[in-house]
Amino acid sequence: MSTPLIELKNIEKHFGSVIALNGVSISVYPGECHCLLGDNGAGKSTFIKTMAGVHQPTRGEIFMDGQQVVFNTARDAIEAGIATVYQDLAMIPLMSVTRNFWMGREPLRSVGPLKFIDFEMANRVTMEEMDRMGIHLREPSQAVGTLSGGERQTVAIARSVYFGAKILILDEPTSALGVRQTSNVLATIDKVRKKGIGVVFISHNVRHALAVGDRFTVLNRGQTLGTAKRGEIEAEELQDMMAGGKELAQLEGSLGGTV
Ligand SMILES: Nc1ncnc2c1ncn2[C@@H]1O[C@H](COP(=O)(O)OP(=O)(O)OP(=O)(O)O)[C@@H](O)[C@H]1O
Ligand SMILES: [Mg+2]
Repeated sequence: MSTPLIELKNIEKHFGSVIALNGVSISVYPGECHCLLGDNGAGKSTFIKTMAGVHQPTRGEIFMDGQQVVFNTARDAIEAGIATVYQDLAMIPLMSVTRNFWMGREPLRSVGPLKFIDFEMANRVTMEEMDRMGIHLREPSQAVGTLSGGERQTVAIARSVYFGAKILILDEPTSALGVRQTSNVLATIDKVRKKGIGVVFISHNVRHALAVGDRFTVLNRGQTLGTAKRGEIEAEELQDMMAGGKELAQLEGSLGGTV
């Protein structure tokens, strides 16, 4: 394989006496969807925030294209091409799809000494980029709040891709969605991967992960339980690893059924 786009080695993160991450390593290759699975409190959000420069690791190293990097701030990571779509999305529901797409990066046009937002261009690009992701907007001036959850995720993803992300981190993009919207988002992830972007897909849901993932890393209590390739692992095994297999088997025994 080629050099990973990003590689994190032995990441530890302590919050006072709490050890949230205790030696986590993953790599992400161009065009790969790498799924990060783990139960509540496993350390998934802490890990991606470390990748995104929001947290600084207590120990461990980060490499991009084989070169060591240090992110002191979230801006450092964004400038290096790491885009993160958080679950709460950071969108303004009452503002238009176009305004949300461009937020803070609006294209300007000059009329004499004055500068105006070039809405004609902004609307056109927003429509084109959403089309590319398979969402055909009737009207880019419609409020983001009127879109479905899956469509809103797609706005956030399309925006990251348009602004040049090399690595796209998605924190549980499908957890609040119904079946059809979930498949839309999974199809979007597939399109993004085909552009050569490395996708890190965080999920609780083994079926969603298996539908698009190329590799799977399971986190449990701040540690990596291993990385498997597509085809090497089955849903049940992943589920067991996430839940800490034995505990679940015991519970199943005592309840006399399937959990
Ligand atoms: N800022 C913080 N200060 C102290 N402890 C923290 C902080 N952030 C996270 N932790 C702890 O680190 C551990 C991992 O939390 P994290 O949010 O990364 O888990 P997660 O896998 O994202 O869980 P979930 O699926 O519930 O979102 C938890 O025990 C949590 O309480
Ligand atoms: Mg989390």
